Amino acid sequence: MKVVEGITREGGVLALGGVALDRVLPALRRLEPSAAACWVYDLDQVEARAARFKSAFAPLGVHVGYALKANALPAILRRARAVGLAAEAGSLGELIAARREGFGAQERILNGNGRTQDEAEFAAREGVHSVNADHVEELDLLQAHAARAGTVLRVALRVNPGIDTHGHAYVATGHDAAKFGVAPAEALGAWAARDRWPSLRLDGVHLHVGSQLLDPGPLERAADTARELAEESARRGAPLGLVNLGGGFGVDYSGSGAEFPLEAYAARLARKMEALKAEWVMEPGRWLVASTGVLLAEVLWVKRRGGATAGGSRRFVVLAAGMNDLIRPALYGARHRIVPVRPRAGAGEPATVVGPVCESADVFEREALLPPLERGDLVALLDAGAYGAVMSSNYNGRGRLAEVTVSGGRLMRARAGEDAAAVGAREVDEALEI
Ligand SMILES: Cc1ncc(COP(=O)(O)O)c(C=O)c1O
Repeated sequence: MKVVEGITREGGVLALGGVALDRVLPALRRLEPSAAACWVYDLDQVEARAARFKSAFAPLGVHVGYALKANALPAILRRARAVGLAAEAGSLGELIAARREGFGAQERILNGNGRTQDEAEFAAREGVHSVNADHVEELDLLQAHAARAGTVLRVALRVNPGIDTHGHAYVATGHDAAKFGVAPAEALGAWAARDRWPSLRLDGVHLHVGSQLLDPGPLERAADTARELAEESARRGAPLGLVNLGGGFGVDYSGSGAEFPLEAYAARLARKMEALKAEWVMEPGRWLVASTGVLLAEVLWVKRRGGATAGGSRRFVVLAAGMNDLIRPALYGARHRIVPVRPRAGAGEPATVVGPVCESADVFEREALLPPLERGDLVALLDAGAYGAVMSSNYNGRGRLAEVTVSGGRLMRARAGEDAAAVGAREVDEALEI
């Protein structure tokens, strides 16, 4: 029985990519004896979604740069690369990760609003497809490094189009108060003055208006803005040759079937933008990987607490994974469906599902309707493949979890978990010269 794409129930047991999820932790414990939670990703699904995204936008010839910030696990990068995706990096660390996995210069796009000397130097020395510059002064830094390296860097200016996506404030990036990009008029001024930066090919516009968009409206408005800017810049004698529309494609966390209409949007965009002759780039992250991963966790405790008021009693289910592992619920109020791996018989009843971190925000879901659960049972938090492990931390002295992949029915440990001793591994006692 299919639960969601790639997730099935076989003989009553939840399975990912055909592997029963109750087999994962016992296998992992041969290498990590105390593992009680881990991430599991279906690489075949990653590849299938990457291929689907690429083919949806093929009529426009879009260069698709996978946004590494969503999940930079090398095994995932290799699958994205295998179907011809490029890599979009938001930092030097992500640029290096992309290079390590074989993404060549023309397959690396550099992003970020806090450009450093090191990033600019890497881009100029090692080469990138393009750099998205967040503001005009950054161009001087890029120019200096490109000139020193004797190269020409292709640059798109990030424009803040003043588009409100009405999503969570933390993932809305294209409205007036957001920190990203320059005003359209400033971008037009910089493109027209492009001779000031002779080592830059400053002919691109970059827009990324938000994340987890299910309505294509804001993305279409961003594309319209890009077209209008390209037309206006051409009128001013500075034609644009590169349009980067960023990411933002949302996924169905609720399970209600509310999918981003990818193919329909792609077809509309291709029709609308036919007249604009440019190289197109997109930077999807979440859409490619969110649904391909789960956070698997054991139930540590089930606590029932009598209510402070008469009659009330609450069931708390304490998982071995917490907000330091998956911070999205605490940070964004995000909801990940919680599904027992091998559900026990019995009526569903509400449960507050929490982690073991010493914070009241360490709650995955309040009033989740779940069947009976006991210590040692397993649950899967669905759609945890994006902005999950990459945002995890050692808060509360907790080691980050292992990451396991599934492909063709085989399990691999792709990143080791940290045990309690590893958490203290960076502590030193070294004098600093002043
Ligand atoms: C510039 C840029 N591009 C691409 C992405 C990927 O976005 P998403 O995962 O929503 O597709 C982000 C994420 O915030 C971003 O900031």
